[in-house]
Amino acid sequence: MSESIKVVVTGAAGQIAYSLIPRLVDGNTFGNKVVNLALVEIPQVVHKLEGLVMELEDSYFPKMGEVSFTDNFKEASKDADWFLLVGSIPRGIVYNGKKIEERSDLLSINGGIFVEQGKAIGKYGKDDAKILVVGNPANTNAFIGKHAGCNDDQLWMAMTMLDSNRAKSILAKKTNNSISDIKNMIIWGNHSPTMYPDIENALVSGELGSSAINDMNWVESEFLPTVQQRGKAVIDARGASSATSAAKAAIDTVIACETPTEEGDSFSAAIASDGAYDVPEGLICGYPLICLDDGKIEIKRDIALSEFAKSKFKLSIDELVSEREAVKHLM
Ligand code: NAD
Ligand code: LMR
Repeated sequence: MSESIKVVVTGAAGQIAYSLIPRLVDGNTFGNKVVNLALVEIPQVVHKLEGLVMELEDSYFPKMGEVSFTDNFKEASKDADWFLLVGSIPRGIVYNGKKIEERSDLLSINGGIFVEQGKAIGKYGKDDAKILVVGNPANTNAFIGKHAGCNDDQLWMAMTMLDSNRAKSILAKKTNNSISDIKNMIIWGNHSPTMYPDIENALVSGELGSSAINDMNWVESEFLPTVQQRGKAVIDARGASSATSAAKAAIDTVIACETPTEEGDSFSAAIASDGAYDVPEGLICGYPLICLDDGKIEIKRDIALSEFAKSKFKLSIDELVSEREAVKHLM
């Protein structure tokens, strides 16, 4: 019998989840493993998941195992291997009569969700569970959840893969390369407009970005702001926050965590700092990560940051520190 894996997805009736969930069971993300799904929603909309489950059944995914849905997160958490925490409010909608424009607006609305979910994951999830927070503000939500979970064997991550994919796409176009020729595209810091997408250390067909793009003016005036503000640009254009690209990025993160990283490459996600690159311990910070042959995820520690990069990265670290202050009452 094939090995099985249990994956919990919150926000399962939302936009991102509609693109994400089928890809978890299509046989590409978890290879040969049978995938058992536990889908979670708030009580007001949990009934809608019945329709999604019908569609999943009708799609006949050979690697799909048991599928359950609930509004009880604790129940869903039992013995889960992966948690994809998408459930939260996006920017661009009206909430309690106010248009949600900035990530800071989300901090007070969404932060609380992660206290209870973190506790349940720490207690009921597997000890080697991996948790990917997609819901914004992703880094600080993961910070809250990890703190509440009190289980240091579990790996809490916040998603920065979408930023990395966006940066790769721009860089590939600029250099007339295919996106698969761009490696080591690191996103340092917060998943917010202060993030620092590191073009200097990216590899463009094996050549360092600092020499492949010898144009710091373009980097500062076009590349950085485009990547940093892409989330807002998508909201402005579609009237809703990015969904299919966010789902793809979540899948890319799962695959990156399940596959040993190629020599010279890294993948992007934010994890708890252990002081690496002078980031205050505990902050959930975007780093270059590698997956080792035994499946462990580690920070890649040999990246040289220029003075320019350090100054940009510091802005994002400072923002993470101030977000940590703003959620102190939840700790
Ligand atoms: P959406 O509004 O379509 O769906 C969110 C769903 O979450 C809703 O169905 C809602 O009922 C559910 N939900 C809310 N609270 C919940 C809880 N406590 N438990 C379970 N479910 C809950 O939004 P979306 O477009 O799918 O976006 C979801 C989140 O992802 C937003 O916060 C958005 O900003 C974020 N996002 C992050 C990235 C990233 O790169 N990190 C990219 C895109 C979107
Ligand atoms: C994104 O980067 O597309 C998401 O985080 C949505 C947002 O609010 O920017």
